[in-house]
Amino acid sequence: MAQPRPSGRVELPLLTKSHGGRQGLTCRYRCANACSHDEPNTSDNEYFGDMLARAVNRRGVLRAGAVLTVAAGATTALAACAPGTEGSDAAAPTEPHGLDFEPVAPNTNDAITLPPGYESNVVIRWGDPVLPGAPAFDFDNQTADAQAAQFGYNNDFCGLLPLRGTGERYLMFCNHEYTIEPLMFRGYDADDPTEEQYRIGLAAHGLSVLVVERDRATGRMTPVLDPQYNRRYTGTSEFVLDGPAAGSDWLRTSADPTGTRVLGTFNNCSGGVTPWGTFLSGEENFNGYFANAAGVTEPVAAARLARYGVEEESTERRWERFDSRFDVTREPNEVNRFGWIVEVDPHDPAAPPVKHTALGRFKHEGATIRLAADRRAVAYMGDDERFDYVYKYVSDEPMMDGETRAAREHNRTLLTRGTLYVARFAGSSPAGEIDGTGRLPADGTFDGSGEWIPLAAGDRSFVDGMTAEEVYVFTREAADRVGATKMDRPEDIEANPRTGNVYIALTNNSDRGKADAERTVGPDEANPRVDNKHGHVIELIEQGGDPTATAFRWSILLVCGDPNDPNTYFGGFDKTQVSPITSPDNLTFDTYGNLWISTDSGLELNINDGLYAVALEGPTRGRTMLFASVPAGAECCGPVVTENFVLISPQHPGDLDDASPDAPKSLWPDGPGTQPRPSVVNIWRTGRVGQPGRIGA
Ligand code: FEO
Ligand code: CA
Ligand code: CA
Repeated sequence: MAQPRPSGRVELPLLTKSHGGRQGLTCRYRCANACSHDEPNTSDNEYFGDMLARAVNRRGVLRAGAVLTVAAGATTALAACAPGTEGSDAAAPTEPHGLDFEPVAPNTNDAITLPPGYESNVVIRWGDPVLPGAPAFDFDNQTADAQAAQFGYNNDFCGLLPLRGTGERYLMFCNHEYTIEPLMFRGYDADDPTEEQYRIGLAAHGLSVLVVERDRATGRMTPVLDPQYNRRYTGTSEFVLDGPAAGSDWLRTSADPTGTRVLGTFNNCSGGVTPWGTFLSGEENFNGYFANAAGVTEPVAAARLARYGVEEESTERRWERFDSRFDVTREPNEVNRFGWIVEVDPHDPAAPPVKHTALGRFKHEGATIRLAADRRAVAYMGDDERFDYVYKYVSDEPMMDGETRAAREHNRTLLTRGTLYVARFAGSSPAGEIDGTGRLPADGTFDGSGEWIPLAAGDRSFVDGMTAEEVYVFTREAADRVGATKMDRPEDIEANPRTGNVYIALTNNSDRGKADAERTVGPDEANPRVDNKHGHVIELIEQGGDPTATAFRWSILLVCGDPNDPNTYFGGFDKTQVSPITSPDNLTFDTYGNLWISTDSGLELNINDGLYAVALEGPTRGRTMLFASVPAGAECCGPVVTENFVLISPQHPGDLDDASPDAPKSLWPDGPGTQPRPSVVNIWRTGRVGQPGRIGA
């Protein structure tokens, strides 16, 4: 196995970048400048120190290192279900396999940069046809009708399911998280957008489902304009609300007095692939699409809008000028119809996409499913905001096996009836040893115990003062009331299909410990750094290995940053042998059980974002290696890792200071004379006889 080389290092000092590490356009158009506002969680829910005594008392009932059951089919890493993944059911090796590549040196290239021996091709890019008959992309002559049939903008999550009965064809599912109008339209006037730009923006959001085909001889993957499966869901497609809050007063609007039918899905960030063959998608920063919260004066309604960070005045895109549903003073409940987990059944084009109220409403990064031993579905979910929370959901019913119509219809209800929980973390070390620098406490580990606090189950609320419907629609408020732990931006949360251990990406939180007379939130053992620019990764082990358990143990696997920084931590591995990494965002696993992490703020280290592999088992646990870096200004989204190929989604290439269509800051993927276009990229290893080989084997 190749050893990482010191060439994969960058030297301190590191450049100081914009707040949160992102560039201006992404901050404005993706997150509604969340980092520039005070965090919306101003609750006084109890903190770590208050929980310590209780947690210490509880530790006796928790069992570390439990033998875990791995539910067959509970793989959101594609590898285990991909055709041609020979060896995918091999016994676990004693030493980690799958990391036999030479790590990429961190860089600022305007290119996809890969280890020697690897190749890539662009599968599909913004504007490429998805529906048969869609016109070719024409940057200077865009229309909403064309965009509604083409691949949307800023693809984030990417999921694959093998297409039944075919060779190497897959159903690909992509989120189109958000639009960046100043990069999409030449001469865009942010103060006075046109109605057609608004309509194009609506059409460029949403989801794509399309067939893709991999050529085993060359390794290349290309889209197929399949009339049966290919679909676009946009900002005007109809979604059905289901679950215990569907039809509630909080979800009724003048256009939909039933509170069950919603037009569109916005800011879909990450997602998941379910063991029953559907795709999940998280509606994240939906607040940025709704205007005029300052005009809402009723105190409870105003507080709830503030808790979700809804725009006080006009929105960045000004959509409220074209449709009153985006103005909370005119249509107060429309905003409540966003912030959900969406489920799409790609095998059944007639089935409507669903928004599941049972999984709560917050800034959903995504949802990933693990099956319990009794086949109940457990969804892990992060609320991506500074000082927000980690959640899970446990279905009432077990998954039904098989491909029958009855099984498919039953499994579509798994996310409709269940129990919603939020996490509270407690540390093992004295609070005084968590000094905020990232220095390890005396016991050598940031670790501890925790509990899943029930919020609601069906029509039953466990939160004093809130009905079940209120818990589902105003989930952040419910979690505040029960004293959930304020985390450093929880993003992807995913169970390792080989071990069942759960990994939580905490992207960053530069406001941790920031002096504020009213609500300074200091470090705790689960979020141990003040001014946490680089984020960390928590490993969580459910009690008894049972994902339905209400207690867990946890430890921090990675304290991210430049390994030259003494207060970073890489699972105890030799820090001279790891790649620098900042702002972990999306997670997945390969068939060997290695963790793969894509990042969202490489600029914090003055390097491009990328996809990293991390060994989890054996003497190399914590070894972190950069596998691929994305072009200038891009974020690395959507990783899918199989034995034979890897997919990544370079999102917002060229989003650097002062970028515009007349002065693009990236020429990726098509080179001189073109505009940067968010895309899906396929990566494979060139075999000795010209055939694609295994990834990192
Ligand atoms: Fe869209 Fe949580 O990143
Ligand atoms: Ca400790
Ligand atoms: Ca993300």
